[in-house]
Amino acid sequence: MNEPVRVDVHAGLRASTILIGAGVTDRASELLDAHGVGRKRVVVSSPLVWRLHGERIARALGGGDPILVPDGERFKNLQSVSRIYDALVRAGADRGSTIVAVGGGVIGDTAGFAAATFLRGVTLAHIPTTLLAQVDSSVGGKVGVNLALGKNLVGAFHQPALVLVDPLLLATLPRREFRSGLYEIVKYGMIASRDLFERVARDTKAIFARDERVLLPAIVESCRIKADVVTRDERESDLRRILNFGHTVGHALEAVTKYRRFRHGEAIAYGMLAAADLAVTRGALADLARQALARLLARLGPLPPASDLPAGEVLEAIKRDKKVIDGALHFVIATQIGATMTIDDVTENELRAVLERLGLTR
Ligand SMILES: NC(=O)c1ccc[n+]([C@@H]2O[C@H](COP(=O)([O-])OP(=O)(O)OC[C@H]3O[C@@H](n4cnc5c(N)ncnc54)[C@H](O)[C@@H]3O)[C@@H](O)[C@H]2O)c1
Ligand SMILES: [Zn+2]
Repeated sequence: MNEPVRVDVHAGLRASTILIGAGVTDRASELLDAHGVGRKRVVVSSPLVWRLHGERIARALGGGDPILVPDGERFKNLQSVSRIYDALVRAGADRGSTIVAVGGGVIGDTAGFAAATFLRGVTLAHIPTTLLAQVDSSVGGKVGVNLALGKNLVGAFHQPALVLVDPLLLATLPRREFRSGLYEIVKYGMIASRDLFERVARDTKAIFARDERVLLPAIVESCRIKADVVTRDERESDLRRILNFGHTVGHALEAVTKYRRFRHGEAIAYGMLAAADLAVTRGALADLARQALARLLARLGPLPPASDLPAGEVLEAIKRDKKVIDGALHFVIATQIGATMTIDDVTENELRAVLERLGLTR
């Protein structure tokens, strides 16, 4: 294989490196060694992911029994973390051990939180296996789990020492999961790169065919954008907020449908449409740009319906979200394809009108 592409995240106490390349997992052991990750490694994965890719990854890492925890959103909780702790103790893990999280965002966040807290913190490495995890959740150091009362309410910042991003692992990913990750790539285009946006629009077919000649550069650029933002602002003060483009309305849609109807990226697709619409009504974005976004999202496939959801309920969910600071809602809007600004004076009526134009029930 070609040498993997390297992206560095400079945040937190230790260096965090992302290596992206087709087949990079097959060299996992050598690459972990080269990045100073100790030899005592414990894999955390899910039964499904391990069934599909375990043999290959176990071979690359040189054996050892993995800790398997189920990976739906409803298993991203403290009980799974607790199961991981127990298994770590039983496996004789110590401060010199490394947790290697192999899976989608749920496994990465859960195993990552266990790594951040077990013995007050052990080394973490990610081998993300969904597109969303490859371009988003494994990058940036946020780890955590849900409580019964809400999503991601418990967490930590714990930068992975190494992230191995292998597009070949995506071959088995269901199309809908793949699309969910694609919407985040569109988001990176919207916030930072017109070129990325245009390539996704132009090469949609090849991307869906998972042709690594187009998919790999799109993943690389997405990781670079996120790494760059996180390097400049690890802890989500101002800059990191741009990564939340589309997430204000998106998170609210996920919450009112109890995380059952939408894949994360699908909700974000609606959220991006809402943020673009708001930007147009504010005179910040040309309507042509909004239309280009709407066209691209339509090209990527149909979204689950949202027209039965009452705008009022979604508004309430937005107000409960953590993006409300001192009563003001901070909203990231696009100013063109590839650039954003934050506004903090969005009124409830304004937002209600946006949601109704999006097709939600009055
Ligand atoms: N930490 C962060 O910064 C961050 C950022 C974005 C999202 N997240 C979190 O990520 C989670 C969503 O992640 P996700 O979309 O990867 O979901 P997920 O981890 O639930 O994976 C989706 C599904 O794909 C399956 N799967 C995984 N890899 C596969 C493969 N290679 N082939 C076939 N099937 C495969 C899984 O078993 C699962 O059923 C959410 O909990 C979200 O909060 C975290
Ligand atoms: Zn997201």
